[in-house]
Amino acid sequence: MLNIYGEYTPALDKLLKQMTEQFTTLNQNYEKKYHERLYEHLRGRVKSEKSMEDKCQRKGLPLTPNSALRENRDSVGLRIVCNFVDDIYTCIAAIKKWDNVSVVKEKDYITNAKPNGYRSYHMILDVMVPEQDVDGNIPGHYFVEVQLRTIAMDTWASLEHEMKYKHQIKNPEMIGKELKRVADELASCDISMQTIRQLIREGD
Ligand code: GTP
Ligand code: MG
Repeated sequence: MLNIYGEYTPALDKLLKQMTEQFTTLNQNYEKKYHERLYEHLRGRVKSEKSMEDKCQRKGLPLTPNSALRENRDSVGLRIVCNFVDDIYTCIAAIKKWDNVSVVKEKDYITNAKPNGYRSYHMILDVMVPEQDVDGNIPGHYFVEVQLRTIAMDTWASLEHEMKYKHQIKNPEMIGKELKRVADELASCDISMQTIRQLIREGD
């Protein structure tokens, strides 16, 4: 097979575009109403064919569109980066109201941080699109992975990711411990920043 996504490749690009627009509209409407953004920025990607093939291989799955789009649920991924922790939960509530979207799975790594200090809110969405899906349904259903985090959480995750995957680390225990300490400090700063925002609002 040439491409693990096969004939579904264009649908994935459209899905990413559709989701990006949906989030952008949410942010614009929120800003019109409350004069501040719900999220600071968003990043989205269709997982590269190579990464998806590697992932399927690791999981012992055949390199087929079904493996890529059903067994795996992160072919399309969006990262929503918010200024404040509260905004993440406001955003989640808004997502849950969307008619074309249902939440398949949620993991709150903010309330329950990973042991290494990683924090984010993860959702797997089932999104309805006009295109056919891998089961032959029209409209089709595709999975989308959404990660919601603050700027501080995002900064930490980028650095931790780089350390984990890009370098041969000589003293992983010490580095891991330091990263965990910083993650907890950043979490504390996120709470403080939110409290400051609250104080400013109460002064209005
Ligand atoms: P996957 O098949 O990898 O999606 O496994 P999973 O369902 O256990 O996913 P999980 O929710 O643990 O993580 C999914 C994604 O979150 C990863 O692909 C990363 O983008 C991000 N992530 C999870 N844990 C970490 C972490 O410790 N550090 C960083 N930097 N990112 C993480
Ligand atoms: Mg994943």
